[in-house]
Amino acid sequence: MPIILPYDDDGIRRAAEELRAGGVVAFATETVYGLGADTFNAEAVRRIYELKGRPMENPLIAHVIDAVSAKSLVTEWDHRCDKLASRFWPGPLTMILPRRETVPIESVAGLGTIAVRSPMHPLARSLLYCFGGPISAPSANRSGHVSPTTAQHVAEDFADAEHLLVLDGGLADFGIESTVVDLTGATATVLRPGTVTIDQLRRALGRAHAIVGSEQGISPGTAPVHYAPRRPASVVTTADLAEELAAPGPVAAVLCFSPSSVPSPHQSIVMPQDPEGYARRLYQALREADQVAVERIVIEEPPEREGIWIAIHDRIARAARSTGER
Ligand code: TXA
Ligand code: MG
Repeated sequence: MPIILPYDDDGIRRAAEELRAGGVVAFATETVYGLGADTFNAEAVRRIYELKGRPMENPLIAHVIDAVSAKSLVTEWDHRCDKLASRFWPGPLTMILPRRETVPIESVAGLGTIAVRSPMHPLARSLLYCFGGPISAPSANRSGHVSPTTAQHVAEDFADAEHLLVLDGGLADFGIESTVVDLTGATATVLRPGTVTIDQLRRALGRAHAIVGSEQGISPGTAPVHYAPRRPASVVTTADLAEELAAPGPVAAVLCFSPSSVPSPHQSIVMPQDPEGYARRLYQALREADQVAVERIVIEEPPEREGIWIAIHDRIARAARSTGER
């Protein structure tokens, strides 16, 4: 099993040393846990892909302590970047920008651009500070699986990675991955919705700058089968839930808003009704649903579709596109 380290000075020092030695470490961020390596160490970055089983064409996010560090990785940084960084950094927003030649191609999957994000979790910030440079990190799950929101989730996904250090920062506060916005063109494009909403981005950029939603863009890593539990999952509206669960069929774990809507032998996993709470709980609930004695997962569709709910609908749709055990 991996080694889970508590978040203290000693843990941070050990993890930073591991990064300096060309190793890979898992660490908490406010969104999901990351699996990090030195952005400038191509060999170390390659090890992340090996560990995750991640396709080599899926680029990584470089985590930075601040905008100054981000600028050292990119060739363009305009007024939009200043506005977004001052409003949302540190925090769950990732910006795609043209990269410098000095960034190893391994860290960006051969692209001419790089994703940069300054996380706000104190643990991630301590690690960045102690390490002293950018840390490239995807979510710390096996490729295709649900992202981890606790250190235990990471340890479960990498159970056979004997010496992997996992810095434990508790349950990730936001619970779903950062909003990814592509700023390489005149029109900013949201490639992945998140808890920083498109309305917030619009307000921060002002009317002078065009921005479009995720329907228009696609990240290399946002392929349909992603963020998926192991069991087959489906999304069902509240109106259809009773009929779905009354019909003879495999026993389900149901992510629902009210336990009274789930007849036995199905099992309910009650979800918060506010979008922040729902997002924080979602991946943990999907992992729980994979562990109870059921054959499938049913997700009650949240009725709302504004703000953070957009990102939640995106993630549950991906979970439901899974083909089951992989
Ligand atoms: O919240 C998060 O973003 C977490 C934490 C650890 O920071 N990280 C995360 O990383 O979710 P990952 O690798 O699971 O997702 C990164 C997404 C992928 O969809 C990837 O394709 C996209 O960002 N991405 C990275 N670099 C890109 C680039 N240069 N151009 C377009 N998309 C990029
Ligand atoms: Mg991921």
